[in-house]
Formats: sequence, structure tokens, C-alpha cells
Amino acid sequence: MHIGILGSGDVGRALGKGFADEGHEVMIGSRSPDSEKLAAWKEAAGKRARTGTFADAAEFAGIAVLATVWSGTENAIRLADPKRFEGKLVIDVTNPLVFEEGKPPALALGHTDSGGEQVQRWLPGAHVVKAFNIVGHALMVHPDLPGGPPDMFICGDDAHAKSQVREILGAFGWPAIDIGGIEGARLLEPMCILWVRYGALTGTWQHAFKLLHK
Ligand SMILES: NC(=O)c1ccc[n+]([C@@H]2O[C@H](COP(=O)([O-])OP(=O)(O)OC[C@H]3O[C@@H](n4cnc5c(N)ncnc54)[C@H](OP(=O)(O)O)[C@@H]3O)[C@@H](O)[C@H]2O)c1
Repeated sequence: MHIGILGSGDVGRALGKGFADEGHEVMIGSRSPDSEKLAAWKEAAGKRARTGTFADAAEFAGIAVLATVWSGTENAIRLADPKRFEGKLVIDVTNPLVFEEGKPPALALGHTDSGGEQVQRWLPGAHVVKAFNIVGHALMVHPDLPGGPPDMFICGDDAHAKSQVREILGAFGWPAIDIGGIEGARLLEPMCILWVRYGALTGTWQHAFKLLHK
């Protein structure tokens, strides 16, 4: 599969290498596709890895991954052109965070709306699935934790798109828990804040969530 990733940060590069290691062809899109950071990523990720503009990555994508800072996400989508995502699965990893000096990150929206829903509105022709947003980038691919595999919660409006994400998660070592339509992102995005808060309080950043049930 051709995977087009919008975002050259820690998430885009970690997932990009993960997809390439699984045998997918990967393009990371960035405003600076020739940066040193991305040259190093290409070197590490191997022959299936390439870089381009946001538009190149969206065009390349059979499956797209959105991994941009929230404040730049609408712009990245605009630069890529929403038409290029039509009919495609878009895995939304973003968290709608606002950062204020000296304060922990907070959500820019919530309760009655979410980043996932906003992304779906920006990309009305795409099948947006929220996934990977509840854990740090270092654990996104093959999380190796003593308590066994953690769970990834996902949500989105299209059943086929969610089945594709479930398959990807399985290959990356994650059981997936489907919590329904994209409005479930109202619940998943605060989980990022919980993840960060626990990390800040304990000074450990190697944790993830698991749902236990009978
Ligand atoms: N870091 C984590 O462990 C983690 C975990 C879960 C979820 N998330 C979420 O995943 C997303 C990516 O996180 P990250 O830490 O990998 O990277 P990040 O630093 O939050 O974002 C980097 C990306 O955002 C793009 N960007 C920044 N300003 C922009 C603008 N004005 N217009 C267009 N694009 C812009 C950058 O583009 P250029 O390449 O052109 O510079 C870059 O590709 C965020 O929404 C974050 O909240 C992060």
C-alpha cells in the first residue's frame, strides 16, 4: 500500500518507519521535504521511504496519515488540497492542543466537538479514523511493555476504513477497540492529556492504556 504521511515530526517519522518496515511504500509530506531531519529519516527507513510536499504526500497516498501540529493542521490540509483525500482513509493522529508558557497542554476544543470531527469537516470526502493519538510516538509501533500489549481506541464513521486501521494496528502489535463514530474523538483526545499528565507526574513516558473486561 502507498502511505502518505502529512507531518515530519516524531509521529510522522515513527509511523513512517513502521509502515516501511511492514513493506509499505511511504512518503512523508512537509513544507521542507529536503530537510536534514528528513534525509536522516529516509536513510533510516530504507528504500521504501521518500519525501515530498504535503500535496505530493496526499497525492501519493492510498492511505493518508495526518500527523501535524494542531495549529498547522488546517493549513497543511489546505496546502495538500482536500480533493486529494477524496475516498481515502485518513488516519488522524493529531491532538487539538494549545500550548501556553508555563502551563501543561490543554485541548483547544472538546465536550461538544473534537479535532477528529473538525478534520472530518475539513475533509468531507475522506474517511477519517482517529487512532494512535492516545500514546507517545515511541510506543506507536510494536509497543513492548511488561504488562502485555496495550489497547488502541479508534473511532470513525466508515466501517471499512476502521477495518483497515484495525489491520494496520494488528501489524504494529496493537489490539484495536472501536468506540463508534468520529464523535468518539471527544473522548480519545482528552486521553492524550491524561497520558501527558501521568508522564509529567511520574517522569516516565513509557506507558499506555489497556481496557480490562470479562
Ligand atoms: N509526539 C507524540 O508523541 C504524539 C503522540 C500522539 C499524538 N501526537 C499528535 O500528533 C501530531 C504530530 O505530533 P509531532 O510531535 O509528531 O509533531 P509536531 O511538532 O506537533 O508537528 C510537526 C508537523 O506539523 C507541521 N506544521 C507545523 N506548523 C505548520 C503550519 N503552520 N502549517 C502546516 N504544517 C505545519 C510541520 O510541518 P513541516 O514538516 O513543514 O515543518 C510538521 O510536519 C500533533 O497533533 C500531536 O499532538 C503526538
